[in-house]
Amino acid sequence: MAHLRHLATSQYLGRPYKLFVMNNEGYLALVAELNRHGHLYYTDDRPEISDETYDAKMRELLAYEAQNPLFIDGGSPSQRVGGASLAQFTSFTHPRPLKSLTNVVSDEEFLAFCDRVEKGLGRANLPFTVEPKMDGLAIAVHYRNGVLSVAATRGDGISGEVVTENVRTIRSVPHRLSESVDIEVRGEVVMRHSVFEKHRGDYANPRNMAAGSLRQLDPTITASRELDFFAYQLIGPDIDSHDDLMTLAERLGFQVTPDREVGTGRDWLLDAVMRLYSNRGTYDWDIDGVVVKLDSIALQNELGTTAKAPRWAVAYKFPSVQAQTLLEDIVVQVGRTGVVTPVAVLAPVTVGGVVVRRATLHNIEDIGRKEIYIGDIVTVQRAGEVIPEVVGRVSRGENSRPFVMPETCPECGTSLIQNEGEVAFRCTNEQCPAQVKGRIRHFAARDAMDIDGLGDALVDAVVDNGWVSAPHELYAITEDQWASLERMGAKSAENLVRAFEFSKQCSLARFIFALGIPFVGKTTAETLAHRFQTIGALQSATREDFLSINDVGEKMAESMCTYFEDSVHQGWIQGCLSAGVTPVAVARTGGVLAGKTFLITGTLSRPRAEIERDIKARGGAILGSVSSKLNYLVVGESPGSKQDKAIQLTQSGKASIELVSEVGLAEWLV
Ligand code: IVH
Repeated sequence: MAHLRHLATSQYLGRPYKLFVMNNEGYLALVAELNRHGHLYYTDDRPEISDETYDAKMRELLAYEAQNPLFIDGGSPSQRVGGASLAQFTSFTHPRPLKSLTNVVSDEEFLAFCDRVEKGLGRANLPFTVEPKMDGLAIAVHYRNGVLSVAATRGDGISGEVVTENVRTIRSVPHRLSESVDIEVRGEVVMRHSVFEKHRGDYANPRNMAAGSLRQLDPTITASRELDFFAYQLIGPDIDSHDDLMTLAERLGFQVTPDREVGTGRDWLLDAVMRLYSNRGTYDWDIDGVVVKLDSIALQNELGTTAKAPRWAVAYKFPSVQAQTLLEDIVVQVGRTGVVTPVAVLAPVTVGGVVVRRATLHNIEDIGRKEIYIGDIVTVQRAGEVIPEVVGRVSRGENSRPFVMPETCPECGTSLIQNEGEVAFRCTNEQCPAQVKGRIRHFAARDAMDIDGLGDALVDAVVDNGWVSAPHELYAITEDQWASLERMGAKSAENLVRAFEFSKQCSLARFIFALGIPFVGKTTAETLAHRFQTIGALQSATREDFLSINDVGEKMAESMCTYFEDSVHQGWIQGCLSAGVTPVAVARTGGVLAGKTFLITGTLSRPRAEIERDIKARGGAILGSVSSKLNYLVVGESPGSKQDKAIQLTQSGKASIELVSEVGLAEWLV
């Protein structure tokens, strides 16, 4: 090399690195030299220097550019995005292997992992980080002096392929970090669903397409595929917490795996896994599990790794959500509004870890459109918490036969009718036992009166025993009656009665929703509560009153008038009020806790769900974890790590979280 340079050393986090110093002339010469070798290599495929020499020169160039960002030449190979096509990928040996993760698929296996960690360290109650497992492909991105130098695929974990140019096209991979650090960042390259739908082509799923897009010899193709990157591991900085490392990663300019939580204790861990599992459908990319990592890096190192995977982390994999099975029969089910839904009776099959025997077929039109016959092999799907559904036919059985809608209600024998312009068939008998049960289930549901512990079997029992035929009659059932039911202990009966008592202090919106007025969902119920303030005012409202509300159309106004004019419904409402139900309109934004966020830690004198409901009833919101968004942490006995984290965040100025005792909270809840 002709240009002037000398060697200097500098320190980053205690580790020395070499810093080449050269002048601008030398830099431009290096740009030209690297471009010539790049062309010889990539385009002519007749390199004159070895890969190592090229990489060394490139590192030198990057080091200079990191130190002199204002002098970066537009023609520098570091600035090239979507340049000439690569002939082939260069192999890259990872300085530290990229291990994979041990998978668990059940709570038992997961708890065995917790046991192993605790036993290995001889300590319990260790903080863990819980974050989504992104379903894409792993890459390692190396930065020198804060400038992206090399990006490589995981490959077999020991060595992968250099995909630097392609990775540069990913917008969420910064070319230059906010700090001049030497660092290795590992993470997942994914393709968002919205982007996949736009480009999918022949790819089966977003992961395959992300992998295919990254391994394009022409970076312009990769660029057009709009990939995304989420960091999940930082190697280099001397920081002893995965959580803090991720915070640093964000500060440096990365997007990290979202919704990360830190906590302690098996119950918390299982809850946190469950939270992510329930939310998995809300992401714009595929999540195939939850990764649980010991938060302390020192303890991670103490536990070490096996040949394949670290001992300090585990992937709790989500079960697959589709399966194929025999459609043995199609029966019909009557819902709370009398609508008759065809239900598939299936040869039992495990879908997403749950044995499915029945699945919805939506309606008769859907069955026709999907050409599904009884006796076919069908695909069954479970998406999130929703009821399993038959999504399509795989093959026709020899004796397959089409489904015919019955003429009468299977529950009460009333003739089924199909209203003009409606796809659905209906049973018109309001006293049909299926409708009564459906109505009671809806009344007690979580979003309605939220009667904890009143499951389907209990509803069936109280209706079949003739104890109730309408929701308000539930309040008359005594503790002894509940206790006399099958599989009900004295304690469960006591809890149930308590839940009924508790439900009496409810918001007007919940009560309106619980009535199950056709076309009145949760949002409309809230609008109505806000507008009318009392149930009496709502009952005496006219059609015009309803129509004067934004979002209430003819159909809904008609439905409400018909509902409130009916003396049977008036009886239900009066029955609830006489039983002590006191619905109150909660100001939408004016609750005493409006705009405030809360989280509870430790044991309090009442069930957590009750307290959370009290907070929400006054306009407060409950957060899932301690973060800068949190205003109040309600601290009970033996508080968990949430308290430590809240104090730490507040002391470091990153948050302003107030700790509140149960007594303190009670003052707000009066
Ligand atoms: S940590 C040594 N965190 O899962 C542990 N991995 O099955 C390093 N993955 O190869 C991995 N999301 O590609 C970690 N939040 C996350 C992840 C994650 C997805 C991938 C990663 C890894 C594979 C193992």
